[in-house]
Amino acid sequence: MTTNGTQTSLFERIGGMTAVNAAVDIFYPKVLADASLSHFFTNVDMKTQAAKQKAFLAYAFGAPMKYSGQNMRDAHSRMQLEDSHFNSVAGHLVDTLKELEVPQSIIDEVVEVALSVKSDVLNK
Ligand code: HEM
Repeated sequence: MTTNGTQTSLFERIGGMTAVNAAVDIFYPKVLADASLSHFFTNVDMKTQAAKQKAFLAYAFGAPMKYSGQNMRDAHSRMQLEDSHFNSVAGHLVDTLKELEVPQSIIDEVVEVALSVKSDVLNK
């Protein structure tokens, strides 16, 4: 809570854009090093991808900004994604946040945000 009684966003509590940037920069090398996931990114420009992911996560965590990328359903609709792929990606995200010493309660909130887009990502 702030002094005027409003709830601070997850984006602010995690440490703003600096924290989101640091997390995504650690996260994608983990995804690419995972043989069960790397093939999905073969023809993807990872610089652009990282920038999109930073913008999306900032927005999803409640940053005061507009997200102008594709929605999660359209962005993943051409891939055959299973639960296992989603869980591995989420696992790399959690490992990243642990490495950055993000408190567990905030990691739990990030996982909630990730789970909120799971059915769209998997097109279910
Ligand atoms: C919480 C889960 C996920 C989130 C929040 C997420 C987020 C995003 C975002 C923001 C984009 C860019 C959208 C745009 O172009 O505007 C994207 C694209 C992409 N995602 Fe995900 N993603 C998730 C899960 C996954 C999983 C499980 C995979 C596969 C292992 C995956 C593979 C990809 C690929 C390959 C692209 C690039 C598509 C292209 O450029 O054609 N994502 N994702």
